[in-house]
Amino acid sequence: MLRDRRIVFGVTGGIAAYKAADVVSKLRQAGALVDVILTDHAAEFVRPLTFAALSHRPVYQNLWETTGEAAARHIELAEAAEALVVAPATADTLARLAQGRADDMLGAVALATTAPLLLVPAMEHHMYEHPATQANLRVLVERGAVVVPPEVGQLASGIVGIGRFPETATILAHLRALLGRGGDLAGRRVVVTAGGTQEPIDPVRYIGNRSSGRMGYALAEEARDRGADVLLITGAVGAPPPAGLCVETARTALELRDAVRAAIVGANVLVMAAAVADYRAERPADRKIKKGSAAENADGSLTLRLVRTPDILAETAALPGTERLVRVGFAAETTDVAANAAAKLGGKQLDLIVANDVSKPGSGFGTTTNEVTIFHADGRVEPLALLPKAEVARAVWDRVVSLLAARGSAQADGDA
Ligand code: C5P
Repeated sequence: MLRDRRIVFGVTGGIAAYKAADVVSKLRQAGALVDVILTDHAAEFVRPLTFAALSHRPVYQNLWETTGEAAARHIELAEAAEALVVAPATADTLARLAQGRADDMLGAVALATTAPLLLVPAMEHHMYEHPATQANLRVLVERGAVVVPPEVGQLASGIVGIGRFPETATILAHLRALLGRGGDLAGRRVVVTAGGTQEPIDPVRYIGNRSSGRMGYALAEEARDRGADVLLITGAVGAPPPAGLCVETARTALELRDAVRAAIVGANVLVMAAAVADYRAERPADRKIKKGSAAENADGSLTLRLVRTPDILAETAALPGTERLVRVGFAAETTDVAANAAAKLGGKQLDLIVANDVSKPGSGFGTTTNEVTIFHADGRVEPLALLPKAEVARAVWDRVVSLLAARGSAQADGDA
């Protein structure tokens, strides 16, 4: 989604300017056309040549250089920009942007563009927390800017505090969300569940599964990048969740059920990619179960009674106010994929079920790819090739968008 997108990228004079080089590099690798503007102070930290080499495009610095080219170019850049990113944004730059100053190239472009503004503040923690900086940020947010919050960590001074420049992936996630505004899921509220549940046996042990959460994360990211308002509910997942969307955690099936029930009120779509335990320990021990303790049977074995967890997805079909909710399930199978998937589609009253044979190489848990078949409620069956999970996610949302459109026109027909 970043391919051929026009990004104007302002770099201002903080030590994190060197980290901006990585962001520009990753943007270009993703196919974006990045025009970098350096402030004079940024050029003290990193030379323009670094950014020119990474962006493969000219770098702008001085609005008043003698040929006058930059002065003319600032309007051209402002008009071409699909997003204006300022990373790092120093306290001084935030003050200048809040005031609408136009006495340098970045300020002039910021005033002349109608593109959305993405700010990545990074500075010493007192400067960030100062009421003046916070007031400037508020003004900019009120005018529509999106702020990628700085992270807490070791700052250039050696002190630990808030103000660190975020990871490149975090900045790119926010930029994708910004560019995705107005996409085919704009105005839609979607709930995606990801990862596996952990059902406690005692305070230190649990019954889990091998879900990595990758498929759910890919689904949430794709929805975010198409303009949806996304709530991602994650179970046990190793990797940090994607940025630029709302995240809740739910560890057990019962917690997940509560979270899903609350989240789907007023939502348009529920995608259950979480691997929910089908059984949980009936009575988890409140202390660690010890070998040789009274919990053991006489022969040294341990009996654990498991009970069924509720089928969260199936239950949602009967909840009032969710008649128009598009509901998508996943079915991880090791045998009889088609028959099992079709049975679940009907049994859980789903619009779509995405089925895969997790015993196949490159498919299912822990992989970055997936080979799935999409079963529709109307009987259509669509086998897809082995694809990266991001592309499987795209295919799923393409189908959901069609369902939403059909539901919208059915509503319009009904109203007429
Ligand atoms: O029945 P099975 O577990 O194979 O169904 C898989 C689908 O149902 C997935 O979408 C999963 O998230 C959902 N599910 C659920 N609650 C359960 C078990 C599965 O919502 N207890």
